[in-house]
Amino acid sequence: MHTCRFRQTVRPIQHDIFAPLLAGAILLFPAVLPGSQEEQLPAKLPAPVHLTAEQDHQRLMNLLHIKQLRPGADPNHPNAPNAVNYDESKVRPYKLPDALVLRNGQKVTTPEAWWNERRPELIEMFDEDVYGRVPADAPKVNWEVVSTTHQTVGAVPAVTKKLLGQVDNSSYPPIKVAIEMSLTTPAQARAGVPVIIEFGFVFPPGFKWPKGFTPPKQTGPTWQEQVLAKGWGYAVLIPTSFQADNGAGLTEGIIGLANKGQPRKLDDWGTLRAWAWGASRALDYLETDKSVNAKEVGIEGLSRYGKAALVTMAYDQRFAIGFIGSSGEGGAKPHRRNFGELVENLAGTGEYHWMAGNFLKYAGPLTANDLPVDSNELIALCAPRPVFISEGSPKVEGNWLDDKGQFEAEVAAGPVYRLLGKEDLGTTQFPPMETALIGGDLAFRQHSGGHTTGPNWPTFLEFASRYWK
Ligand code: GCU
Repeated sequence: MHTCRFRQTVRPIQHDIFAPLLAGAILLFPAVLPGSQEEQLPAKLPAPVHLTAEQDHQRLMNLLHIKQLRPGADPNHPNAPNAVNYDESKVRPYKLPDALVLRNGQKVTTPEAWWNERRPELIEMFDEDVYGRVPADAPKVNWEVVSTTHQTVGAVPAVTKKLLGQVDNSSYPPIKVAIEMSLTTPAQARAGVPVIIEFGFVFPPGFKWPKGFTPPKQTGPTWQEQVLAKGWGYAVLIPTSFQADNGAGLTEGIIGLANKGQPRKLDDWGTLRAWAWGASRALDYLETDKSVNAKEVGIEGLSRYGKAALVTMAYDQRFAIGFIGSSGEGGAKPHRRNFGELVENLAGTGEYHWMAGNFLKYAGPLTANDLPVDSNELIALCAPRPVFISEGSPKVEGNWLDDKGQFEAEVAAGPVYRLLGKEDLGTTQFPPMETALIGGDLAFRQHSGGHTTGPNWPTFLEFASRYWK
């Protein structure tokens, strides 16, 4: 489960990792891991394969004919040869690929060329080498309302629906997958309301806060209360209900089901793409629910779920706005910038499952500079829709996520927004702490707290209010 992963992952100490759990978590259902029941296996179907993350990782390296990968940045040993770099003066000059130049070198100068040529080309490159492909015949999802509850959230009477998206597993019955989500909307709304979907963390059964860790106290209204107070609704989607957050889970969950329990091909979808797929299926449901205005649905997430939120926005153009929290490497951070977490970390056994198998190539023998795309282009894929890139304070959250790099990638996405008649960040200067850049269609803000989107909610809602009344 997610929280165990937190402890295994190499990360800076001051990163207050449990804040998001507190701030965003809702325990909807008892944690269910996508499972498999081998005893029902019909004769013609292949038996499900079970590999540890290490075995599966080695299998991918063999397929790629890679003997060795470079180690990730190490945040815990400052004298190690691979010690993480947090020093701006040691950042090697890097050049982001131009989002408006085709692979054949031609410049993209019209919206038509963006939509018809460059955008599809970028999607293809992200599919092939970065996040992997969703299979064309990915199973259908059938949503059911499990329960409807009336409650008051803050001061607002609201209706909460517990929802379950049953995934069609007729192609491979041994693997059962169901997407868990809850939807809360104001009880008194007369028409469909805007909704923000959050990728929600879940506490595993028996979860205990680590010794000495004091979870941050919620001060002021929760994000859910703030959203309802605007007359909007919110949904919490549980990513780990349909795709586990580890490599061993890749032959289970939605990825495993689509592959009939077999390991991934090199360009098959990774977990981030699977979580984003789930968000798209969640939006399919919202399109059928009269309490929702499905043209005004946003996606929010923090950290690994911040990456997933950005991938969701980039791929599915029905999402109207993105609130991308501390997404770092694999999210808004440029792969090419040697600061904080690196490609090599993502390619390790604790995180490779987020990505396509092909991504491993870039941690040996290739490098980040060989990637055909970078994060500025992922942000650009969201254009012309509004995106808010959110960070905490490096003093509290740490520098692992490279706030400045994320800002630079967002600046470099600007030309695509402008080409489509929208406004970029309005500056190329990294702003002082707590400066809200929300005048354009690309937005940015660092709040003074830790690893959470919490303190940025009021600013995000102000930004979103420019689009939704
Ligand atoms: C680790 C990982 C990050 C990730 C984070 C999180 O720190 O290195 O890439 O964003 O976990 O999800 O909390």
